[in-house]
Amino acid sequence: MRTQAQGGRPRPAHRFVPVVQLLAMLSAPAALAQGAPQGAQLFTQRCASCHSVGEGDRVGPDLHGVLERRDEAWVTRFIQSPGSLIDAGDPVANELLKKFNGIRMPDQSLNDTERASLYAFFRDCAAKGKGACKPSPAAKMGTDATQEEVARGRRLFEGSEPLTHGGPACIGCHDVRGIGVAGGGTLGPNLTFAFARKGERGLTPLLAKLDTPLMAPLYAKAPLTEEEQYAVKAYLADASRDGGKPRQDRDFFYLGIVGLAVALGFIGLVWGPRGKDPHHP
Ligand code: HEC
Ligand code: HEC
Repeated sequence: MRTQAQGGRPRPAHRFVPVVQLLAMLSAPAALAQGAPQGAQLFTQRCASCHSVGEGDRVGPDLHGVLERRDEAWVTRFIQSPGSLIDAGDPVANELLKKFNGIRMPDQSLNDTERASLYAFFRDCAAKGKGACKPSPAAKMGTDATQEEVARGRRLFEGSEPLTHGGPACIGCHDVRGIGVAGGGTLGPNLTFAFARKGERGLTPLLAKLDTPLMAPLYAKAPLTEEEQYAVKAYLADASRDGGKPRQDRDFFYLGIVGLAVALGFIGLVWGPRGKDPHHP
């Protein structure tokens, strides 16, 4: 525990530190509030295609404990522009370049807030030990999905592939343009543009919890797995990107009833074992 720093003891005299801290506080107040979770998400989105934290080298080196084995200022300079360090003849950067087959890491422009959260994430992982920081699959950007992930999201949404923990298929209450034969239910809002409306940041936590008043009772005990959250997000991202106009929100009474039946079925009335027939989710 590092509690001494708050004990009011004078810090070691270093003329620049307070000024730098003050500047940092003025220019990026959010940096103080940002933490490891934001850093983890940033890492998944911007770095995980080439790096792991604690799972071994990939295109680039394993970054587990990188702030322990290297000087922080060096890491900051490296991330900003690996190429300039390499070209300037920095020995460590050149050694890494050789070790990683001459592949140059692209420059990563991070603002102070992003860098602070990323470093909080690295330090948190180093403190927890190797293997503690597998990036959450749900944190990956919905727009980075493969066609298979989008297709799986659609199957989960319409119930042709059952959800691992037995939650009801979304189509019982939600329509998405182009889904199913009769379209989806209307108890919940049309989700064709949910990804565009809520964005990556709004949708990711919502899919993790599905805790709106009507959905909470259904999914509190049957949450989507992280892979399922991701697949559904990818499907919704794909749907909202898909150009054309959505069809009018359907307002068929019976589809509302289907949704309600789904809800009631899961809230209390006992439902029989889930059928495998994709046409009766
Ligand atoms: C396209 C692949 C790629 C991406 C994306 C990438 N890196 Fe790298 N990174 C590399 C490679 C390759 C190296 C090895 C050095 C070299 O060859 O340039 C490296 C090296 C590093 C190092 C030095 C590691 C050490 O052991 O000293 C750090 C730190 C680093 N990367 C951080 C990041 C961060 C943070 C991000 C995301 C914001 C990121 N990288 C994104 C490929 C990548
Ligand atoms: C029993 C009906 C029902 C089921 C099943 C259901 N939802 Fe919902 N959903 C709703 C309702 C109703 C709302 C509006 C908020 C509320 O009243 O709870 C909603 C809201 C949402 C929203 C927010 C939409 C917005 O723009 O604000 C998202 C996203 C969502 N649901 C996704 C899903 C996903 C993904 C599934 C399947 C895993 C699902 N829902 C299953 C009824 C349902």
